Amino acid sequence: MGQHVEHDVLIIGSGAAGLTLALTLPTHLRIAVLSKGDLSNGSTYWAQGGVAAVLDEHDTVDAHVKDTLVAGAGLCNEQAVRFTIEHSREAIEWLIDLGVPFTRNAATGNAGSTLHLTREGGHSHRRIIHAADATGAAIFTSLLTQAKLRPNIQLLPQQVAIDLITTQKLGAPGDRCLGAYVLNRNTGEVDTHGARFTVLATGGASKVYLYSSNQESACGDGIAMAWRAGCRVANMEFNQFHPTCLYHPHARNFLITEALRGEGALLKLPSGERFMPRFDERAELAPRDIVARAIDHEMKRLGIPHVYLDISHKPADFIKTHFPTVYERCLSLGINICQEPIPVVPAAHYTCGGVWVDSAGRTDLTGLYAIGETSFTGLHGANRMASNSLLECFVYARSAAADIATSAEYLEKPSALPSWDASQVTDSDEDVIIAHNWDELRRFMWDYVGIVRTDKRLLRAFNRIELLSKEIDEFYSNYKVSRDLIELRNLAQVAELIIRSAMARKESRGLHFTLDYPKILNHAQDTILVPPSADERT
Ligand code: FAD
Ligand code: SIN
Repeated sequence: MGQHVEHDVLIIGSGAAGLTLALTLPTHLRIAVLSKGDLSNGSTYWAQGGVAAVLDEHDTVDAHVKDTLVAGAGLCNEQAVRFTIEHSREAIEWLIDLGVPFTRNAATGNAGSTLHLTREGGHSHRRIIHAADATGAAIFTSLLTQAKLRPNIQLLPQQVAIDLITTQKLGAPGDRCLGAYVLNRNTGEVDTHGARFTVLATGGASKVYLYSSNQESACGDGIAMAWRAGCRVANMEFNQFHPTCLYHPHARNFLITEALRGEGALLKLPSGERFMPRFDERAELAPRDIVARAIDHEMKRLGIPHVYLDISHKPADFIKTHFPTVYERCLSLGINICQEPIPVVPAAHYTCGGVWVDSAGRTDLTGLYAIGETSFTGLHGANRMASNSLLECFVYARSAAADIATSAEYLEKPSALPSWDASQVTDSDEDVIIAHNWDELRRFMWDYVGIVRTDKRLLRAFNRIELLSKEIDEFYSNYKVSRDLIELRNLAQVAELIIRSAMARKESRGLHFTLDYPKILNHAQDTILVPPSADERT
């Protein structure tokens, strides 16, 4: 039997969003931060390029806002964009105060010197602050070091949140979140975590696709849990494919940072011909949707398994100083990027949609917040601009912390919660079903709901997901939960939301491109899905 534990704030997720929130909440609150694997298993640790912010004296908030709106293809919420960017400088100053070792300009290379800013697609200025090409690791390490020093923060790895506990599910009045049921992988039991505030900081859902730059944890758990708990979910059709993931049999999800293109790397065909200028005047620095589609187009046209990214024309010293992680990783696989081009393919990278929230990260349920990649703030519109997502994590986590600090005065702790009921389930003797369904789902999502879509492909995917979901629900009702089963159930839920959203959009905009509706409509509209009410579900 699992244990019952109580917190003031339960944060599900230990990435940039979750840890920032934990560190900015008042220190008298008892906080638990969960991670379903090791604490570093989200995307944050692996972020390479950096964080976009207005730091250069020649840059302006208006310019960053404008670039974000252009990349977002008319669908960004301008208020959310402005809110995020206006808070960018203070978020970066907070990180610097925490001790994040951002790269400084070589000429003056000491703590008092200016920060080195790099460029990425869609940005009209150099505005990406970074720690060489391992920015996520540098940020994560600083955040974690600080969190470990705080006695009010409990860090709990190997804890998989299964579902949120809500008043509605308990048949009680109101519309409040009361905590979550969590599979404790150390004991194999399901614990009951009661909390005055629960925060989803669970990252994205890119593992719904066969090829992805993300770690195993990116299964959209937060989005699926929020949906099942009755929260609105928005713009799930906008899945960003990063144009340049390494193509190599022994490195399936290694990213080649966009900053390489920012510093002059060129995309080439096997013949050595550059092709991006044929697709967009910004060539290699066009926004990601355009670059990924161009690569996809060339790969299909020529029947080739990948294209090349070439930075070998730059001095070797420059490459090794700016991109040590990419250089070392490629070299370990026999590719010397100072001398030869890198084989690359697009892969699912970022979930632009998510749980609908306001500027304080509040969802539709009292006491439930969503921050970071799992949320939908309106910042990214139809296509996220590079390096805006870490920024969103910091800005919204800090905003949610301020809101929770204020609300903490009046939101009571939940009364006794029922334990997880495992009386009707047995150990599974058919785990092959989980593995099979997982593979099938990710394959048809890649083939039918990928970079280029059609009505017919989406319908096929819809039919498949209906069948698969039934099978998974049945399995879930009869067998004990495991991490794999929890993730598969969530992936299927998120896949269904993506397919439904994609079917609803009768135009091509940003990351959603369909051969059946190649034009963009004059009127830009979010796709907001509303979950069935409890009555409708029964
Ligand atoms: P994550 O860092 O993904 O953390 C999610 C956390 O939730 C993890 O701790 C996970 O264990 C936990 N979790 C999930 N489900 C559960 C559950 N059911 N129970 C318990 N815990 C759970 N963005 C930029 O702005 N700049 C970049 O340079 C950049 N580079 C990137 C490079 C790569 C390779 C990738 C994959 C992404 C990159 N991104 C970048 C995107 C950015 O890293 C992510 O959007 C961001 O880190 C997400 O942070 P997060 O805190 O929302 O979630
Ligand atoms: C990269 O380094 O190319 C990733 C940047 C991002 O996803 O924002």
